[in-house]
Amino acid sequence: MLELLKGFKRSHYCGEVKEEDIGKEVYLCGWCHKVRDHGGLIFIDLRDRTGKIQVVIAENLDEYFKTADKEKLEEGLEENLRKAFEIAKKLHSEDVIAVRGVVRKRPEGTENPNLKTGNIEVYVKELKLLNKSEPIPFPIEDDINIGEETRLSYRFLDLRRPKMQRNLKVRSDLSKLVRDILFEEGFIEIETPYLTKSTPEGARDFLVPARLHPGKFYALPQSPQLFKQILMISGFDKYFQIARCFRDEDLRADRQPEFTQIDLEMSFVDEEDVQKVAERILKEAFEKFKGKKIEKIDKISYLDAMNKYGSDKPDRRLFIKGEEEEFRKEMQLVDLTDVFKDTNLKVFKKIIENGGVVKALVFPKGANYMSRKDIDDLTKYAQSIGAKGLAWIKVLEDLSFQSPIAKFLKEEEINEIKNRLKLQKDDLVFFMVDTWDNACEILGKVRLYLGEKYNLIDKDKIDALWVVDFPMFFYNEEEKRFESMHHPFTSPKEKDMEKVFKLASLIRESEEIPKEAFELASQIKARAYDLVVNGVEVAGGSIRIHREDIQEAIFDIIGLSKEDAEERFGFFLKALKYGAPPHGGLAFGFDRLLTLILDEDSIREVIAFPKTQKAQCLLTNAPDRVDENQLKEVHIKVDLPEED
Ligand code: AMO
Ligand code: AMP
Repeated sequence: MLELLKGFKRSHYCGEVKEEDIGKEVYLCGWCHKVRDHGGLIFIDLRDRTGKIQVVIAENLDEYFKTADKEKLEEGLEENLRKAFEIAKKLHSEDVIAVRGVVRKRPEGTENPNLKTGNIEVYVKELKLLNKSEPIPFPIEDDINIGEETRLSYRFLDLRRPKMQRNLKVRSDLSKLVRDILFEEGFIEIETPYLTKSTPEGARDFLVPARLHPGKFYALPQSPQLFKQILMISGFDKYFQIARCFRDEDLRADRQPEFTQIDLEMSFVDEEDVQKVAERILKEAFEKFKGKKIEKIDKISYLDAMNKYGSDKPDRRLFIKGEEEEFRKEMQLVDLTDVFKDTNLKVFKKIIENGGVVKALVFPKGANYMSRKDIDDLTKYAQSIGAKGLAWIKVLEDLSFQSPIAKFLKEEEINEIKNRLKLQKDDLVFFMVDTWDNACEILGKVRLYLGEKYNLIDKDKIDALWVVDFPMFFYNEEEKRFESMHHPFTSPKEKDMEKVFKLASLIRESEEIPKEAFELASQIKARAYDLVVNGVEVAGGSIRIHREDIQEAIFDIIGLSKEDAEERFGFFLKALKYGAPPHGGLAFGFDRLLTLILDEDSIREVIAFPKTQKAQCLLTNAPDRVDENQLKEVHIKVDLPEED
């Protein structure tokens, strides 16, 4: 390679040659994007990561003399031109070449305004072929219509496309911005192990067999959670890491089995201190890479978020023009349980008697958008995500109701519904009757479905908010125990501390969870916070427990026995005994943040080598079998389920 490029050191990147360079000799290297043969002249769009420039290879000197000085004819030029032309005739897309040539203005009328370098070209004096390429399976362009599988199998070509080059460059620039900000804020960057013990983020672990310890396994970290807390106990005060995390869970467009977090932790702080750092990162990132200012970051309680938007990551960009009432403008859910307390509708009545709720969603002037068939499709969608049904009302000209439930509604119920929902002609109302969680969640998804389908979401807007005041626990019906809503190292609110100890002793003292425990558990709030942007959870964190007695109480509540706690987190409980400072932190999903900044639909577009929905790497074909000897060395026998 050295020989090949001898005397041929690149002087410029293709996209960076400028009009000021006219008359200069340049050395360029890159890929032949497009080769056009015009008889005695061959034009090549030469491309590298900065862009493209046209290079011209002429068969003889006539073309050269159009712009160059005959007197200063360089030695051997004629021979070099002949050679260059011979090579150029055989060039194809994606062959790799190096050229030496003179920058000149393009002849009038041949400029290309779509190209940064469109007013100039390089007249080639010498050309070297550095490597050939096989015919490519798809063109190296942004607008290509090919399946993701092909793109991922040929990721090395896919990544040559301008958009992917830009995405990964912004990824690198964002990581620098984050580092610069955090260093300025006094953080220290520290790496934590990848081969470690299971960590508690609630997903399945990826395991690594330990050759030196037959039958034992490392787990890949789901996050650096416990290590960063230990670093606080060790006195580092402010830690950060751009850390890879590994979670074996079902994948979606915004989830990968390995992903990157901007992970940070701070000592002697409260919620506001951590949030301030996160807000600075978010604001500067959006301003620098998207050119958008985020003025205001609201705070909204978990309860409000669920009640109004049916989601713990509300998207408030959905909005209906011309509406005055906030709940109609943002299509917020409205609770109408009390209106239906004496309803004649048997299906509703039964659910309400069992503690369920009635949630309503108004689609103002929805009848102008939705046909009867659209309503049926929506009902099917709701059922597909777990709805028992989706009752609806269409408001007619005279404000009477057209609805499958109309005949069961009493006069006063009709009036109350009209009043509360400020109903007008052509409004559509959807009702979900279910447990509070289900009703909110499903109707929240219906809201977003309508928003997407009928273009009610203002995609230019950036809606950033903190969701706070999360409950500490939720009840896991299957396992018949409480679980931490965040992770079990999240601190309860100071004012709820007594309730925590009471709940722990209630659970410790009884076989089954007593009734009053549920009431108590529902009152305990966590010092946790999630940062949500445009309906995506981009970061989450909390103030942590720094006292061993509280940590133990939480383990009791979530049903982790002393022995299990000791085995899984003994090292951490021990550290808590040696002067742990109050501390807290947070982690951004780095890939998700980038996806938002770059307006991509999937986080796979911002990761160089992502996995598919089935957690496979189509480029390398991982995961794959390994040979018998490798297995033997780590004392593993593979026992596959029978194929059916
Ligand atoms: P959490 O589990 O909420 O918190 O993760 C923090 C952020 O990481 C992103 N994220 C993911 N991104 C891509 N693929 C995934 N599979 C994935 N899972 C999570 C999300 C999320 O907001 N240790 C705590 C943080 C803390 O308390 O400091 C933690 O990991 O954007
Ligand atoms: P049915 O009497 O089952 O035909 O239901 C009458 C209407 O109520 C239909 O439009 C159903 O979709 C709707 N419905 C049934 N159960 C529920 C529920 N739990 N929540 C909301 N709507 C429901």
